[in-house]
Amino acid sequence: MSSLSKQPPQGMGNCFHTVHVFDSPALLARAAARRIALLAKRAARTQPFLRIALAGGTTPQACYRALREETLDWSRIHIYFGDERCLPASDPQRNDQMAAQSLLDHVPIPAHQIHRIQAHWGAVPAALDYAACLRHSGPLDLILLGMGEDGHTASLFPGLSEPGEQRLVIPVLHAPKPPPERVSLGPAALLAARQLFFLVAGPAKHAALQHLQQGASLPPQQFKLAHWYVDRAAWHGL
Ligand code: 6PG
Repeated sequence: MSSLSKQPPQGMGNCFHTVHVFDSPALLARAAARRIALLAKRAARTQPFLRIALAGGTTPQACYRALREETLDWSRIHIYFGDERCLPASDPQRNDQMAAQSLLDHVPIPAHQIHRIQAHWGAVPAALDYAACLRHSGPLDLILLGMGEDGHTASLFPGLSEPGEQRLVIPVLHAPKPPPERVSLGPAALLAARQLFFLVAGPAKHAALQHLQQGASLPPQQFKLAHWYVDRAAWHGL
């Protein structure tokens, strides 16, 4: 069997409500893509569109490539972004450019259904604009997330978010991961989403997962009902 689901004992105060562990990043990517395709099929029975926010970074790229092979009705999917780097609009380091290259340029999604963060305007105006976009769309159905070695997710970095932060979208001006200026969905937008999937692979992520399991108050800890798709190298005996 290539994956297992782990349901930690009730009452455990960490965010690992549902963890799916895979033997390799490739198996993780394929399983997450299949799950997304299944959600899209189910949603098609009851709602006009499925709204998905994509994650940045390198880990989700294999999932995006696997999604190209799935049968999805792209005319009924709207794409959003969990965060964006404040770089020129066509900079290859932007998350929307990575998503275009690995997925969106290869599937028949109407251009007006891709909701980019205008991060090249600067973090503050782009965050205000994207918050208006999200207020218009309503809560997202699925948000994909990665996690950095320091436990950040989207562009929510440890120690940088204000307690009681209520904004749907947050301008980030001093991120420790380059570039320092970014735009991120806020905890309020993540908590309002119907589903959150974390995609986390590789041994470098093990320490952050361990800290989360021990209850550390890193950003992902707020999202208790998330599904975690992790590979064995990252999970490694937890
Ligand atoms: C970004 C992100 C960020 C990313 C994690 C994991 O723009 O950098 O959205 O949150 O998902 O840092 O990145 P890796 O998968 O590359 O480790």
